[in-house]
Amino acid sequence: MLSKQGSDGGKRTSLHGHWSSRMAFILAVTGSAVGLGNIWKFPYIAGQNGGGAFVLVYLLCVVLIGMPVMMSEILIGRRGRRNPIATMELLGKEEGSSGNWKWVGGIGVVAGIFILSYYSVVAGWVLAYVPKSMSGVFAGATSEQVSAIFENFTGSWWQVGLAHTVFMGLTIFVVARGVERGLEQAVRFMVPALLFLMLVLLGYSINSGSFGEGVEFLFTPKWEDLTWGSVLAALGQAFFTLSIGMGAVMAYGAYLPEETSITGASGAVVIADTIIAILAGLVIFPLVFANGLSPGEGAGLVFETLPLAFGGMAGGVVFSSVFFVLLAFAAWTSALGLVEPAVAWLVEHHNRTRAQAAVMIGGLIWFVGLGSVLSFNVLSELRFLVRVDTDGDGVKDAYGTIFNNVDFLTSNIMLPLGGLLITVFAGWVMCRNSTADELGGAGTTYRIWRVLARFLAPLGILIVLINAVMS
Ligand code: TRP
Repeated sequence: MLSKQGSDGGKRTSLHGHWSSRMAFILAVTGSAVGLGNIWKFPYIAGQNGGGAFVLVYLLCVVLIGMPVMMSEILIGRRGRRNPIATMELLGKEEGSSGNWKWVGGIGVVAGIFILSYYSVVAGWVLAYVPKSMSGVFAGATSEQVSAIFENFTGSWWQVGLAHTVFMGLTIFVVARGVERGLEQAVRFMVPALLFLMLVLLGYSINSGSFGEGVEFLFTPKWEDLTWGSVLAALGQAFFTLSIGMGAVMAYGAYLPEETSITGASGAVVIADTIIAILAGLVIFPLVFANGLSPGEGAGLVFETLPLAFGGMAGGVVFSSVFFVLLAFAAWTSALGLVEPAVAWLVEHHNRTRAQAAVMIGGLIWFVGLGSVLSFNVLSELRFLVRVDTDGDGVKDAYGTIFNNVDFLTSNIMLPLGGLLITVFAGWVMCRNSTADELGGAGTTYRIWRVLARFLAPLGILIVLINAVMS
């Protein structure tokens, strides 16, 4: 049971202690934000949605919708100082609305479980690429050979299943021991190191001969290719990459010291996350064009381009191994954020120990993830619901696999819906005094946030969701 506290708003303290500093909070949120979303998903989704126009819409979504949603999540978290479900219930009552707002936290717990179910499968690919890199198979390989390695690997249900199992095992291990805070150090080292290796790759990409073509693909909008479907993909990607819309950032906000600026911290995370995604795009698309690959390749895009670059550079075996280790680390810190809401909830409401909760939730996620494991091999022909483009020509020509469906329903439906409810709560349900108190007074930044949170973000999300689902 949670202790009863008076409704003294900002004076509440968290049950689990506080971040040691503003920097620790920024590092934790950056660690959850920077992951496969930036390096694997952003280039692959941008490639499938025609590049330029998609990227521009994505950036608009990040700034005009992502940023106010993130600020709303953090301020709600800090005011409630509990797990997202309990926080939404408490603040819902305290602000004179209803305890039913707890269901927003509930959607988030479920979204986290489903996202991790396929996230872990792709993180498993990354893990598997570490020994592959070390063995030297990519050294001097042609693009056909690199693609064949990817297809042989994902075509094998047991290899993909084993990698997924290892990644979930690592995640459960850390969650069970409750040593996430130790990862603060890992993030401190990992993000700069990843940035450094991305810059090395960028150097290679600039010399690939197709840098201009890559830049043009990424930044020249071809508006005629933009559909409501790709606008929804851009919105979903903005939510996914920033880890918002499911209460993860809200959970972290619960441990944020009173005096830290929420706007400043959100801005720092958004900028760091966006730089890494754009950098990934700048590395990958020139390689795609230089090697005659298709930008709309799909989920394998990064695994079929980066090993080519590493294979062609001096010291490539070392760079490649280190790169995949770092990427696995980035995925790991994100995975912890994805399970935390579910684990915290089991511990607080069902009196489980952290270890029991980690094994139960982790086991469930592992099991659900088997659907995504099999999507690339045994069940690759089991297709339903969502439409996808299978040959990279921009036309959605087939139904999607289990993996495609889980990805679509979580990123493009559940996260935006969660974000919509969160901004409506912060902008309309919470009174002006409460939010102004958390955002440091009623200055210009506050007024901009309030307009975005009350009008632009919820209406924007609603318009995109309705149009995309109708079309
Ligand atoms: N942002 C992560 C990435 O880009 C993925 C993610 C989505 C996430 N929602 C999250 C991570 C919630 C932690 C918590 O890879």
